[in-house]
Amino acid sequence: MIDDFINKIFNTTWENTLPQIPDNSIDIVITSPPYNVSLGDNKFRDKSKGYDIYDDNMPYEDYLAWMDKLYTECYRVLKPGGRICINIGDGANGSICTHADFTVRMRDKAGFIPITTLVWDKKQIGASCLYGDELINTSGGYKEIRDICVGDSVLTHKRRFKKVTEVFHRKYTGYMYRIKSNLCEDVVVTGGHPLLLSPLHRKCGKYHPKKCVTREDNYWEIPEKISGENYLVCPRYSKMKVGSYHGFYRIKSVEKEWVNDVDVYNMEVEEDHSYVGKIAYHNCAWGSYQSPSCPSFPTQFEFIIVMGKETKYHKGDKEKITVGGKEFQRNSRALWVFPPETQMMKEYGHPAMFPSELPRRLIQQLTYEDDIVYDPFNGVGTTCVVAKQLNRRYIGTEMSKKYYETSLVRLGAIPTMIKTKSGEEVPEWMV
Ligand SMILES: C[S@@+](CC[C@H](N)C(=O)[O-])C[C@H]1O[C@@H](n2cnc3c(N)ncnc32)[C@H](O)[C@@H]1O
Repeated sequence: MIDDFINKIFNTTWENTLPQIPDNSIDIVITSPPYNVSLGDNKFRDKSKGYDIYDDNMPYEDYLAWMDKLYTECYRVLKPGGRICINIGDGANGSICTHADFTVRMRDKAGFIPITTLVWDKKQIGASCLYGDELINTSGGYKEIRDICVGDSVLTHKRRFKKVTEVFHRKYTGYMYRIKSNLCEDVVVTGGHPLLLSPLHRKCGKYHPKKCVTREDNYWEIPEKISGENYLVCPRYSKMKVGSYHGFYRIKSVEKEWVNDVDVYNMEVEEDHSYVGKIAYHNCAWGSYQSPSCPSFPTQFEFIIVMGKETKYHKGDKEKITVGGKEFQRNSRALWVFPPETQMMKEYGHPAMFPSELPRRLIQQLTYEDDIVYDPFNGVGTTCVVAKQLNRRYIGTEMSKKYYETSLVRLGAIPTMIKTKSGEEVPEWMV
């Protein structure tokens, strides 16, 4: 009975749960599988940033075969007219074309009908923003970020002026950091915005900036990691005060504050690098720089493969449509632009979540109220949380106990636990 699964998260693998779900019972599968990119184990990340218990590193053919099994099972449980939406990124700067392999195999092996492939442009600017009145050092002097136009030249972390190619203005909800220093005005930035620092040198029992500081001495750091043992170097965006010393400002404190919906700005500069995101996200992987011998193409986007079972039509009660006209139009353009989840580890302890916006758009565009949404790789429950908010029914499976428990908290659905004869604690409904 499908009722046994409704509005429940199962702390086990999809391999254990999915075979028990009846045929033709689910309206939509929305999920993001592990990308098989050795999460937490490549040169940019440390192990602590990998999954809790899953090892994201299979031989590629085994990985594809594993996913074939999932797609075939999903096909069985979906209703005719049901949809499957797979969020996936390619590996190795696009040279492992996972999304293309998935697309072909979902169609040819599982039997789905392709509907579209959405490109999700993450912009990678999620947390790298400033308030509109912060000052930026331009080739024509300091300017408020809200007055910066495409074509202005701004100082980048390489201490070179680069032309602005795009300015973004958007709402931001999350942590803002106020960095106070001895002489310049406070700098207020979001979590991912790096600041140029100089280390302090201990001399005669006191800390000093080096007399002669080279470009190499300075380094960029995100606000969260900034401490009082740093100097802020010639802030690009804070007002100088009389008496400022060689452009060095001793950090006095870093205050963190949660803000809701504030207006922030960010910009991209020439060479397609985010002005402030460049350091934070290491997105300057050019391969053979300025040579056609072997250029690299770092991807700032992912894919969402959307397919249907048997037909592209998903019938439902008109009264249960929840998508508005404008929203429908925006969603139907296959390029989706919104930032990634920025509080993954900090807020939820998960290294690879998608933001709520992703399942929200899919659920609004592709389902009716009361439809059943299934996420086989539930993580910390983003799909199910959004499904619940939008009056859809949900089912999730997640192998990690830690993520499973976080998803229950997010869903406000902590079950009463009871002890089985073997002494194991399980949710009441399982017994
Ligand atoms: C990319 S994450 C999904 C994150 C999710 N979209 C969110 O926003 O929280 C993939 C998840 O799949 C889980 N996982 C891996 N293999 C699994 C399996 N066989 N069954 C269930 N979960 C699995 C991992 O623990 C991880 O949390």
